Amino acid sequence: MRILAALLLAAILRAQAPFLAPPYLQLGDAPLPAARERMDLLWQAEDRDAAWSVEVQGLKGWIPQAEPTFHRMAAPPLPPHRMYRATLRDLSPGARVPYRVKRDGAVVFEAEAQVRKSGAHRFLVTGDAAEGTLEQAAIARAMAAQHPDFVFIAGDLVYGRGRAAEYRARFFPVYNAEDLPLMRRVPFLGVPGNHDVPWDLQRWPDTLAYFSEWSLPLDGPALRPGDPGAAPAVAGLHDAVLAAAGPAYPRMASYSFEYGGVHWTVLDSNAYADWASPVLAAWLEADLKAAQRATWRVVALHHPLFQSSRSHAEDQWMRPLSPILERYGVDLVFAGHVHNYQRTAPLRFAPTKIGRRGEPVAGRFEVDAAFDGKTVTRAHGILHLVTGAGGAHLYDKAQGADRASWQPWTRAFVSDRHSFTEVDVDGRTLRLRQLDAEGRELDAITLTR
Ligand SMILES: [Fe+2]
Repeated sequence: MRILAALLLAAILRAQAPFLAPPYLQLGDAPLPAARERMDLLWQAEDRDAAWSVEVQGLKGWIPQAEPTFHRMAAPPLPPHRMYRATLRDLSPGARVPYRVKRDGAVVFEAEAQVRKSGAHRFLVTGDAAEGTLEQAAIARAMAAQHPDFVFIAGDLVYGRGRAAEYRARFFPVYNAEDLPLMRRVPFLGVPGNHDVPWDLQRWPDTLAYFSEWSLPLDGPALRPGDPGAAPAVAGLHDAVLAAAGPAYPRMASYSFEYGGVHWTVLDSNAYADWASPVLAAWLEADLKAAQRATWRVVALHHPLFQSSRSHAEDQWMRPLSPILERYGVDLVFAGHVHNYQRTAPLRFAPTKIGRRGEPVAGRFEVDAAFDGKTVTRAHGILHLVTGAGGAHLYDKAQGADRASWQPWTRAFVSDRHSFTEVDVDGRTLRLRQLDAEGRELDAITLTR
């Protein structure tokens, strides 16, 4: 009887809990800094009518924001639910702004949002993250302890198939928990990896959830559904997710944004996206040209150009991009896909033989051997980082200690533990550290320009 009463109480509480996924911040379609900033706030709730509202704290009290909008999402196996979106507006750059969410007039959620900074800032990068492992949670805790201004996830955001049900089970409960409040304080950004797009097309109606669960700039190549280079979807199967995604599908797979003097170019590196094709190549060149005003240029994608692991050694199809990235002065490339940490020397690469997908790309390397990130901090070439140890099981655990197995241009390789990258940008100085779940430093370099 007691047990029955407890179960009943739990069921009632669950029915009354305001959120299926509590509110989380997103950069939204705001690629460039502005004198008055805005951010998107997303959450998920039961499929029933309620009066939702959002307020931001101003100097003279709480300021109501425009009414939240919602999409009804009905893609099994999750029961139909509502995906809400609001925009926090008129925010001061760099401020930490209290905000709150009300349902039927009652405050059901409160947090503080870190608004985009215009100068010095700290960001974290990791990849291959939400597999639901203990290590994923440990890395999330360690990331929160570093008080970042934003977090970038370098693809394979959620395992195993980028599904809405997987976000519900493995992503939000870890990165936006009551006792680990990351996503309600700082925006997460990301890029789809191979696990975030359909690969067994006929199976999962709720895959492609990247396009519905994230709100990121829509300034990428102007792809339409079905275009070459767009993430594939199946009519009739993926309709619910795509309806919730709206204009984000398929365009949001690549984009660019600026944060505190750093220009980010985020590329969908999945096998269907051919960056030698006219539409994608033209967008990339125009974006890098526009990035020349920034102090630092960062490229983020899922599949690395250069790395030493035996795992995924054949996935080199992004290598032919190296010359254009060098020409426009890209400083750092962040990738995931390979579940460990690796850093190259500053590199230049001239491809001599580009095979088909899955075949090696041969070429001439020019290695900046003088750069050590300590006394010589000016790099001639691009540093390539693999930071794919964010939660999923590790690759080639013994290879980090086996220097003879590294490519000649690899300078750091840690594969025996999970980790994430921390970057502090302050004007023309950039300090990069790789940290493990206990906050121990695995690698550290400084770059100046
Ligand atoms: Fe991957």
